[in-house]
Amino acid sequence: MSQMTIEIKKTPHSRISEIDFDHLVFGEQFSDHMLEVRYSEGSWRDPLILPYGQIPMYPAVSTLHYGQAVFEGMKAFRYKDGKVNIFRLDKHYERFRRSCERVCIPEVPQDIFKEGMRALVDTDRSWVPGAKYKSLYIRPIVFASDQTLGLRASRNYRFYIICSPVGNYYAEGIKPIRLTTMPKYVRAVLGGVGDVKVPGNYAASLQPTMKAQQLGYTQVLWLDAIEHRYVEEVGSMNIFFVIDDILVTPPLNGSILPGITRNSVIELAKANGMTVDERPVTIDELADLHKTGKLKEIFGAGTAAVISPVGTIHHEEYQISIGSDEMGPVSKWFYENITGIQHGDVADPGGWCTLI
Ligand code: COI
Repeated sequence: MSQMTIEIKKTPHSRISEIDFDHLVFGEQFSDHMLEVRYSEGSWRDPLILPYGQIPMYPAVSTLHYGQAVFEGMKAFRYKDGKVNIFRLDKHYERFRRSCERVCIPEVPQDIFKEGMRALVDTDRSWVPGAKYKSLYIRPIVFASDQTLGLRASRNYRFYIICSPVGNYYAEGIKPIRLTTMPKYVRAVLGGVGDVKVPGNYAASLQPTMKAQQLGYTQVLWLDAIEHRYVEEVGSMNIFFVIDDILVTPPLNGSILPGITRNSVIELAKANGMTVDERPVTIDELADLHKTGKLKEIFGAGTAAVISPVGTIHHEEYQISIGSDEMGPVSKWFYENITGIQHGDVADPGGWCTLI
């Protein structure tokens, strides 16, 4: 256990009775407290848990101008016996550390990230929903806080963790969603920042996603930035294909976000004897596999999205429509097993759930 001291200032007025846990809209309601840690003069200091609220900030803080920031998306779950756990804490911290390095943010020490999060979730333990398929979404965010318009790495930073009780991410719930490619746009290029969790990746996806939604699709299926043929990811989740009885997903080539749920799917598949092939897949190959009946299922995997079936992929002149109006059996198996592990109904494969 760490020797770190975290000051806790509790709110005298919990807002929990205002929350309708049966009708949660993703990311729209926040728990009672947040963690705040500041970086100055070369060190992270004085972790504090305080009531969730506004944070003071000048319009010149450099993150608002140049986007020097990193975030994570994680979840806490409640077992049937009431115990609470955080899912894949170590893996998320590792990705967070790597993302910070890429945009010159000084490393947030493990104990601040992990013990700070544990203390926050413990403080807001009553906000972790008990119902299956619901969770407390945890959003760590670190950003540059120097007041400067000069383009340089900041000398001051702030790290926050906030929490939000959530159900399904997509409005479709767990019904199949519809994707379209947007070949005029790209999400990320090799050497860029597509493989780390920085806000700019998401800002750049907004306009093409809005156009896709105007055409009747839920999200964009991103293709590679050079040949516009290789399937990469969905932005809010990684993508998987069941081809005959093989689980296929694009390899982590440097422009795809290394999803933690992606990793969980791959590890579970391998542990259960399924063949997993991390290999490049072109959009034309998918159309051919669909025509010959070899493409059995498509699903996305992400922390917010969990396992989300994909019913349609549209690309230029063709449309791949697959399955019924329900999750396919393979997608369903992953959905049930991952949520089962998270809620303690399926054995933890080893250190995935950190009890708090
Ligand atoms: C997550 O899945 O946690 C993400 O950060 C994706 C975001 C679009 C909600």
